[in-house]
Amino acid sequence: MLAPVTANARTASALPLVSLSAFTGPRLLVMNNKGGVGKSTIATTLLHQLEADGHTPALVDFDPQGSSIDWAEEHGGFWAVNDDPRRERLESMRLRIPAGTSHVIMDSPANLDPLLLNRLLDYADAILIPTQVSPMDVRALGRFLPSLLLHPRYRSRKPQLGVIANRMSAEANTDLLERFLAPLRLNLLARLPERPGGQCSDAPLWDALRGWLRH
Ligand SMILES: Nc1ncnc2c1ncn2[C@@H]1O[C@H](COP(=O)(O)OP(=O)(O)OP(=O)(O)O)[C@@H](O)[C@H]1O
Ligand SMILES: [Mg+2]
Repeated sequence: MLAPVTANARTASALPLVSLSAFTGPRLLVMNNKGGVGKSTIATTLLHQLEADGHTPALVDFDPQGSSIDWAEEHGGFWAVNDDPRRERLESMRLRIPAGTSHVIMDSPANLDPLLLNRLLDYADAILIPTQVSPMDVRALGRFLPSLLLHPRYRSRKPQLGVIANRMSAEANTDLLERFLAPLRLNLLARLPERPGGQCSDAPLWDALRGWLRH
């Protein structure tokens, strides 16, 4: 298990570190331009689940809101850094993770700034896009996804991309979402139910992701 650290990585000097760009294991980005769709919930649940499976995941939180880093500090046991643009150190010095990390989970903010999107796409090996399934949510995804698929950095690196239908109530269905995804040849990776507290650690997501992450 990694030494627990905080957002300012104060024990950084105790471990051999690699930069996020040089890390060769899977770097999994949780992203959606829309707010409140479950990005941080899924990022932190993934950390929890990967650790429970015996892996040594690390978190990089690109959202100044800091929800994932707050969670990591509260739960301990994870290497966690945030990407604070106010810090003036070189990126290669800031975004470093322990060499023994198994997976990097990257959380990201809503309303993505184009420069941040460029950087996220340089790092991501796989992208998870949580969405809710209401017409309003699907239409918002409909504006974001095509621009992502046409983004030059997405097209040059071709990360895996999977969509997660989150907060599914018993009566909700994914018909509209799937009709939208089909022509884009995108997979609906998992359906997560509405759960008190938001954590979905026993959901089918994990079975889907285990296979999907083994690339
Ligand atoms: N499957 C779920 N069941 C019930 N509540 C959920 C579920 N997923 C997320 N939530 C709740 O929805 C709210 C928003 O979730 P979360 O903060 O993860 O979204 P986000 O996309 O990271 O938001 P932001 O864009 O502000 O960063 C939280 O209160 C969270 O607990
Ligand atoms: Mg968030």
